[in-house]
Amino acid sequence: MDPINLKHEMDDLDYACFLDLIRKKSGLEIPAVRRPEVERSIHQLLSQINLIDVRELLGLINQDKRGNELLETLIGRITIGETYFFRNHSQFEALETTILPEIINRRRTNKQLRIWSAGCSTGEEPYSLAILLKKLLPDWSEWNIFILATDINRNALEKAQKREFGASSFRKETPPDIKQTYFATNGNKYILKPSIAEMVNFNYLNLVEDVYPSFLNNTTMMDLILCRNVFIYFKEETSQRIANALYDALGENGWLIVGHAEPSQTVFQKFRIHNFPGTIIYQKSEKGNHTPEITTSARVNRVSQKIEIRKNANRIMPGRIKNTIKAGNITQNVNQVNTLSPVDATGEMLNKDLQEADRLIRKVKMH
Ligand SMILES: C[S@@+](CC[C@H](N)C(=O)[O-])C[C@H]1O[C@@H](n2cnc3c(N)ncnc32)[C@H](O)[C@@H]1O
Repeated sequence: MDPINLKHEMDDLDYACFLDLIRKKSGLEIPAVRRPEVERSIHQLLSQINLIDVRELLGLINQDKRGNELLETLIGRITIGETYFFRNHSQFEALETTILPEIINRRRTNKQLRIWSAGCSTGEEPYSLAILLKKLLPDWSEWNIFILATDINRNALEKAQKREFGASSFRKETPPDIKQTYFATNGNKYILKPSIAEMVNFNYLNLVEDVYPSFLNNTTMMDLILCRNVFIYFKEETSQRIANALYDALGENGWLIVGHAEPSQTVFQKFRIHNFPGTIIYQKSEKGNHTPEITTSARVNRVSQKIEIRKNANRIMPGRIKNTIKAGNITQNVNQVNTLSPVDATGEMLNKDLQEADRLIRKVKMH
């Protein structure tokens, strides 16, 4: 797209007004390093609606319905939709071996399952759940399975429903056999089989809005919610509000899975913590909260994931990679400490290393 000639350059105040509107609508906290990219998205929006004045666009956004649509379009352009099939092996392992069998067992009498992928992006996450359920339930056609998949990005939802995926939706963690079993190929595209696709119901839902749990959008009594790699973009207060609303959207003993870098004792204080190999998973339990220490391996994993996710969120340029590698080394050191002795692993030394890793992460973020 050709650069447009703006009536006047966007100044700091104009930019701050855009950030404020975006934050209020979506909860997204946008780091300073992303300003050029966000400005580009604003320019694209201006060009799309044939305007050359950022302040006129701000005025339009502040108007009622049309403004809301424009703001949604802008948010759609700046959300980070990184996802792929069976993302995070430890979590899918826990789902396959423990969590889904536990839920299936509990629901065997009424044969109903309710699952929600909140912040589903282009659909790889809810479709992975559908594939897994089909594998775990040989009599799946006798079950009433409801998989809800929601996102704030309407383009991502549209793309998900096309069920057409490229190579980047399949990574190292993705079981290699799923391509053959559940997809047809068309050139370099992989088309998900309708029998899997029709198990998932896509819908627009903004997690920041007070619209759930609700029977109107079918967000009540969930057995399992995945809300992964979404909290990372919110400030703690927003995350806590969302965590509490998701708690209410779960049925008793329902499970919540968040991204690897996202567990927090404050944000998820209502939940019971379960340690699985390499990951932490939450469960709703109204009969008293039992919160064991988060294991060291899960904490270490969290730090390394934080580095990965922030690297991605900040779109690190080649010049910054050196710092990231340094941060990665610290994680390795933490891993070494972890294997030395349980005393070291739970004591001062690890905390210091974790703090150091966090400091390096912040440094990477600032550059
Ligand atoms: C990094 S993707 C995560 C996709 C998937 N959950 C995963 O872990 O692979 C984050 C998604 O959260 C969505 N998102 C961001 N803010 C949101 C909000 N306020 N409400 C709903 N979804 C939101 C984005 O549009 C994006 O699709």
